[in-house]
Amino acid sequence: MTALIPFLAILMGKQRVLSGVQPTGNLHLGNYLGAIRNWVEIQDQYDNFFCVVDLHAITVPHDPTVLAGNSYAIAALYLACGIDLAHSNIFIQSHVSAHAELTWLLNCITPINWLQGMIQFKEKAVKQGENVGTGLLDYPVLMAADILLYDADKVPVGEDQKQHIELTRDLVIRMNDKFGTKKAPVLKMPEPMIRKDGARVMSLTDGTSKMSKSDPSELSRIELLDPPEAIAKKIKKCKTDPARGLEFDNPDRPECNNLLTLYTLLSGQTKETVAAECADMGWGQFKPLLTETVVEALRPIQEKYAAVMDDRAYLDSVLRQGREQAEVIATVTLDRVKTAMGFSTPV
Ligand code: TYM
Repeated sequence: MTALIPFLAILMGKQRVLSGVQPTGNLHLGNYLGAIRNWVEIQDQYDNFFCVVDLHAITVPHDPTVLAGNSYAIAALYLACGIDLAHSNIFIQSHVSAHAELTWLLNCITPINWLQGMIQFKEKAVKQGENVGTGLLDYPVLMAADILLYDADKVPVGEDQKQHIELTRDLVIRMNDKFGTKKAPVLKMPEPMIRKDGARVMSLTDGTSKMSKSDPSELSRIELLDPPEAIAKKIKKCKTDPARGLEFDNPDRPECNNLLTLYTLLSGQTKETVAAECADMGWGQFKPLLTETVVEALRPIQEKYAAVMDDRAYLDSVLRQGREQAEVIATVTLDRVKTAMGFSTPV
């Protein structure tokens, strides 16, 4: 039945969604609230492809002994967070070689200064010093290939990926101008899907910088697989301020806004309810409440994750099926691009 999903989705006129996460370290609340939670919420309205972008993970120095294991763990987390195979396909990027091949074709129409201007490239390049690899510069083109191979209509991501999707859109215009016609465009134009709440979860140790896997301090982020004691410790130590009462949207209180937002999203309440509930609270009262909310929100994810990781045969079958579905669609797009660019067909 699941093998028929993409075809049924087309018959039902569903738009397609593509998104992905890098298998570098454990996922944190930013990845969950900015991306995966949204995938889960919208999945029944779309035909979905969620990939683990392991080719992206090697654009910074990596350890080959953990790469494959990390990819499987992230795929298991997708399932644990509620990705449902009745609506969605899960696959590993490197299992579908069309991603690398389309990247090459797109590279050849990408002006290098578009890539040199990317915010994430500049930030990561500074961290790598002398040893910046070509892959890091080319990272957004690989991401464009991920999206464009599937003719994706929507790309649900956090705020930090917006610039990469703009570049993807510019590449669509360039490819279609050079090699397509108005009637027969080569590539489909995708749109970012960025929700307001949770699109930019901030660090626990600095409310003005993004929660990130690469922050050297583990205290800066809550990971989805953190045990309750670690969550309690991180929230106990997180940065706050001396003001009395808790409030949203005060630019002088970024930590307060971030922690209230986490509480709102993970408790499933509205902003207004939380604003009223916490208006007179001090940190001593709020922190245990936030701790309990985070622990309870992550408990079912952690339990499901453990069950999926215990059944390797099941996970393998999910990824095999996902790859098969992905390959069918990716191959059609790749052939279309190659034909438009003038390549010969093998005899
Ligand atoms: P990555 O692995 O850095 O992050 C995965 C997703 O999590 C979101 N995110 C956040 N959202 C809110 N607050 C935060 N602090 C936070 N940190 C991360 C990201 O916006 C992202 O949605 N280039 C991508 C992966 C990628 C991709 C793609 C995404 C590769 N190909 C194709 C969409 C479509 C990345 O590095 O995400």
